[in-house]
Amino acid sequence: MEHKQAERVFVCGRSGSGKSTIVKAMVRELKAPRLIVFDVMDEYSKDKPGWVRVTNMKDLVHTLKARWKKGFKVAYVPTGDLMAVMDKIAKLVWELQEGYEKGTDMRQFTLVAEEADTGIPNRTMPADMYGVQRLSTRGRHRGINVIAVSQRPALVHTTFRGNCGSQFVFALANENDRKQIVQTVGAQYADELRQMPNFRFWRLKDGQIQRGHTTKSGRYKLS
Ligand SMILES: Nc1ncnc2c1ncn2[C@@H]1O[C@H](COP(=O)(O)OP(=O)(O)OP(=O)(O)O)[C@@H](O)[C@H]1O
Ligand SMILES: [Mg+2]
Repeated sequence: MEHKQAERVFVCGRSGSGKSTIVKAMVRELKAPRLIVFDVMDEYSKDKPGWVRVTNMKDLVHTLKARWKKGFKVAYVPTGDLMAVMDKIAKLVWELQEGYEKGTDMRQFTLVAEEADTGIPNRTMPADMYGVQRLSTRGRHRGINVIAVSQRPALVHTTFRGNCGSQFVFALANENDRKQIVQTVGAQYADELRQMPNFRFWRLKDGQIQRGHTTKSGRYKLS
């Protein structure tokens, strides 16, 4: 991910289908990452060496400043108005990555939004909450990768989904969600998607389907 243009990735699938497993595997591959996970379920930092767990913006800013040069893996466990918290994080990351656009610091940043229907919900945001919207449309210019994860794609903001270059689709519980995916890949895939077992996924990119699966040991393989 770090060698290419920054990208936006969407990961969807029903509860227990393997979404967080693949995202954890993806972020493990990052070298000296600048990484924040919007860790709604508080599942990223527990017993994981190298992770810092924070629960408020003040500690987040402090941690990022202290570790900016070395890199960091921060699990931000949000409370309160999760949309407002995500907006603040998105604005902070935008500011911090200014050097990328200026050409003075070419390291990329990765922001993972777990349970993205909470932080990036599919509803009209107040005008001052443009943080995520800006990352969706212009974050690439600042080297900001965003990975959003949700059980229900329809509940995640359409601007974000529309700007995703690739999508990982696990088994979907909701029929309308399946219909929406089938509209993009073609009716001939409807049965396969309906019968998809847990831990299997499609990677959709540039109109192509690549299949893959997660493993018990927390890795993933593309076939
Ligand atoms: N191939 C596999 N075989 C067996 N277990 C697996 C496999 N892949 C992942 N798991 C395990 O399945 C459990 C659920 O996976 P995961 O947490 O990724 O689901 P999820 O899609 O994020 O669910 P939720 O929406 O509830 O967060 C985890 O304990 C994970 O380690
Ligand atoms: Mg999960």
